[in-house]
Amino acid sequence: MAQLITGVSRTFDEFLLLPNLTRSDCSPATVDLRTPLVRHTTAETPPIELHSPVTSAVMQAVSTPGLAIALARNGGLSFLHHNQPIADQVSAVRQVKAAETDTDDPAPTTRRDGTGGPDGERFPKRLVDVDGRLRVGAGINTHDYRERVPALLQAGADVLCLDSSDGYSDWQAEALTWVKKNYPEIPTGGGNVVDAEAFSFLAEAGADFVKVGVGGGSICITRDQKGIGRGQASAVWDVAAARDAFRERTGAHVPICSDGGLVHDHHLALALAMGADFVMMGRYFARFDQAAGAKLATHEGFVKEYWGEGSNRARNWQRYGQGGRELVFEEGVDGFVPYAGDLAEGLALTLAKLRSTMVSCGSTTLAEFRSNARLTLVSERSFQEGHANVPLREGTAAL
Ligand code: IMP
Repeated sequence: MAQLITGVSRTFDEFLLLPNLTRSDCSPATVDLRTPLVRHTTAETPPIELHSPVTSAVMQAVSTPGLAIALARNGGLSFLHHNQPIADQVSAVRQVKAAETDTDDPAPTTRRDGTGGPDGERFPKRLVDVDGRLRVGAGINTHDYRERVPALLQAGADVLCLDSSDGYSDWQAEALTWVKKNYPEIPTGGGNVVDAEAFSFLAEAGADFVKVGVGGGSICITRDQKGIGRGQASAVWDVAAARDAFRERTGAHVPICSDGGLVHDHHLALALAMGADFVMMGRYFARFDQAAGAKLATHEGFVKEYWGEGSNRARNWQRYGQGGRELVFEEGVDGFVPYAGDLAEGLALTLAKLRSTMVSCGSTTLAEFRSNARLTLVSERSFQEGHANVPLREGTAAL
């Protein structure tokens, strides 16, 4: 007989954080947003840490080389998509690895922002490898990894991620085993999963991080089409507990990434408080200049194109194909997101909000935030109470 999982499937909007005591040493300036990207033992320093806990989605509409450069300069990481010939993905990786790390200007004697020449640091949080080159990730699939992985490694990819809408499969375990055996030096993540069993399956198979989330993406219609998925908050909560249990049992910390469904800036804080080591976002990054979609004028302002990897436009059969080369049905839509300008400015604002939340919750590190966070469920009426409840003056920023 089918099993009914106890507990309702919940999403981030149903929760709020309670403020904790803010100690006098706790201020936005002392908040440290570093977080581990890949598996490590509790005794060692994580081999790769993000300086900002954000990654951009393995999607055509999102992770261009230009976006990867901008994001790595600001402490995060992009995963360049694999829905393209190996040679094209290799060339995208090479473009990021060849980029200037600290300036948009090839000969930075005087900076445009006036922060003075080569001694000054324009991007102090930049994420670089041991040779000082920007770090970049790459998506791979369970079909052509034997050819794609060595080519990406040669191009200098720092980390790989098996990209599938449902990662709880023998194919992912086989691919992870193969990569670990042949290229043990390259960290490789797996996913996506939504529960403890699937996390443990991938962690045992060697995944260096595990992505969490099925059906919550803003362009996603997987739940409508297939009836599978789980509210993102419940999924992160459950998988975070499994990660902690795995660490207790084996001494290895396998980071988890909350992927998809982050709509408002404060959802980032909720995902991290509920246990994510870092997040992955598509819609968020698709709004910026550096993303791939065209910028279009509408009566309500500028928008950018944003389409799912399971849409007919992307035709990503490696992620969504049901065994064949063609998409039998779509799992994603093709739409628009409000234009949001330059990535560096937008991300700085989002991270300022995160720091401020952490200060209110009395935490200066993400690990402390996770272990100290106190969350409450919100009723429909208290959800309404939390928004502006007066008519807004024209031009006032509405969220
Ligand atoms: P968003 O940040 O809410 O826009 O979600 C982005 C995430 O949605 C990606 O990282 C993928 O995990 C997932 N995704 C991308 N394309 C599709 C699709 O076509 N259908 C379902 N999920 C998708």
